[in-house]
Amino acid sequence: MSGEPVATGGGDRSLDPQAVVIFGATGDLARRKLLPAFHHLFRERRLPDRFAIVGAARSELSDDAFREHARAAVEQFGHAPFDTGAWEEFARRLHYACADTATDPALSGLGLRLQEVDRDFGVEGRSLFYLATPPTAHPSIVQGLLNGGLNKGAKVVIEKPFGWDLRSAMQLNAALHQAFDESQIFRIDHYLGKETVQNILAFRFTNGMFEPVWNRRYIDNVQITVAEDIGIEGRGAFYEETGSLRDMIQTHLFQTLTFVAMEPPVSLDPDRLRDEKVRVLRSMKPVAPDHVVLGQYVGYRNEEGVSPTSQTPTYSALRIEIDNWRWAGVPFFVRTGKRLERKMTEISLAFRPVPYNLIETTAEPPGKDALTFRVQPDEGISIHLNIKRPGSGMELQRAELDFDYDEMGSPLLDAYETLLLEAMEGDHTLFLREDEVERAWEVLEPVLSDPPTVDFYEPGSWGPREAVRLIHPWHWHVTPPPKLRGANRSPEER
Ligand code: BG6
Repeated sequence: MSGEPVATGGGDRSLDPQAVVIFGATGDLARRKLLPAFHHLFRERRLPDRFAIVGAARSELSDDAFREHARAAVEQFGHAPFDTGAWEEFARRLHYACADTATDPALSGLGLRLQEVDRDFGVEGRSLFYLATPPTAHPSIVQGLLNGGLNKGAKVVIEKPFGWDLRSAMQLNAALHQAFDESQIFRIDHYLGKETVQNILAFRFTNGMFEPVWNRRYIDNVQITVAEDIGIEGRGAFYEETGSLRDMIQTHLFQTLTFVAMEPPVSLDPDRLRDEKVRVLRSMKPVAPDHVVLGQYVGYRNEEGVSPTSQTPTYSALRIEIDNWRWAGVPFFVRTGKRLERKMTEISLAFRPVPYNLIETTAEPPGKDALTFRVQPDEGISIHLNIKRPGSGMELQRAELDFDYDEMGSPLLDAYETLLLEAMEGDHTLFLREDEVERAWEVLEPVLSDPPTVDFYEPGSWGPREAVRLIHPWHWHVTPPPKLRGANRSPEER
């Protein structure tokens, strides 16, 4: 990972000059994430001086119209106050090229734009292609880049989901390898750009006290929840093809799980880290359909672009088993859903109870010790313990040891910004390898080919009731919102 201090006063001199081409430039991801991310990086002087962006999509658009589109995106989704002066400087570097492989199979229009950009901005012929397009569009774009010779020496970032099943992922990998060497390919999953996800590695592998208990002897179960309160936000067509298994489980949840379950890598060298992630995926049993609950929120079928009889899941909960010496017998429960009670991503490890309960007189039996990584919002780590309730007699109560990221200042860059810099630098540590995505699909194959029917749930709930049965006799862990946890209260109030 590039953790080097970054030059200030000009562009970042440690990055090579380059042009970034965003395919799907008028789409949702570019609007919400990529254009605001590049704009912020530019303002923070993280980009090279010799840098330009070419937006590419199938529609005809002038440079000016694309700049207007980008400006609206930055105003709406950028996280710093909009500054017109800074915008003008950034906008100068924005260009547009119509790129439709059906009418221009060698993407020659884009090739010409790149030559102009090279002449004006001196990017020395370097390009990074970001495919922010649905998975079905990826193969023809890769073929277009190959036909036009644009692949030579370039980098390519492929947005998730990578294919839509094992077969299509293998085909896409094969197509990519016709045009690019593995060293040129960056399969992105923005969860790996999150500080709190990366922190799992720091926490596990730099603190001697946890690793000895990080196994089946001491851990009872592991839960990963990625709950969202938003719905599909107008992405009906994309979501109908994708659904929560492909959009979230095969990607963000499996990636997070590998960080929790992996063996210590010998180094953070990209391939050593990815070797260990792949070993976890290989130890995961393909998920049986009866270990899965799928749900759909009431009202989803009325969303634009959604079939009135849609069986697409907006919620998935899975029980996962990892057959290796560290984890055999420990269930991993993962779940994700849209329109749930609130946004909350957390990883929680519950420890086994003590061999027998010494304190028999207690009114409330001791709870399980649990360690929770709060990935978002309210980023931090908490440990729940049993303590003696102050006063006479031996009664127990639950206590929380808590660390809040807020106290350390918020991270400067968001997940996409971090990963864009890593890709521009050519560092693969936080990107997925070919075998990793393929194995992640293989684990899900039984469910994708024979999915259970979806159960409906009310928006604002925690998902379908069947998910409670899936985890029985355990319970889903939910960290209370900050105001109930006391995290935002002053020390005197706590
Ligand atoms: C994206 C999914 O990858 O992740 C979206 O396509 C989802 O459906 C989003 O809303 C969640 O990301 P985050 O960072 O808000 O947890």
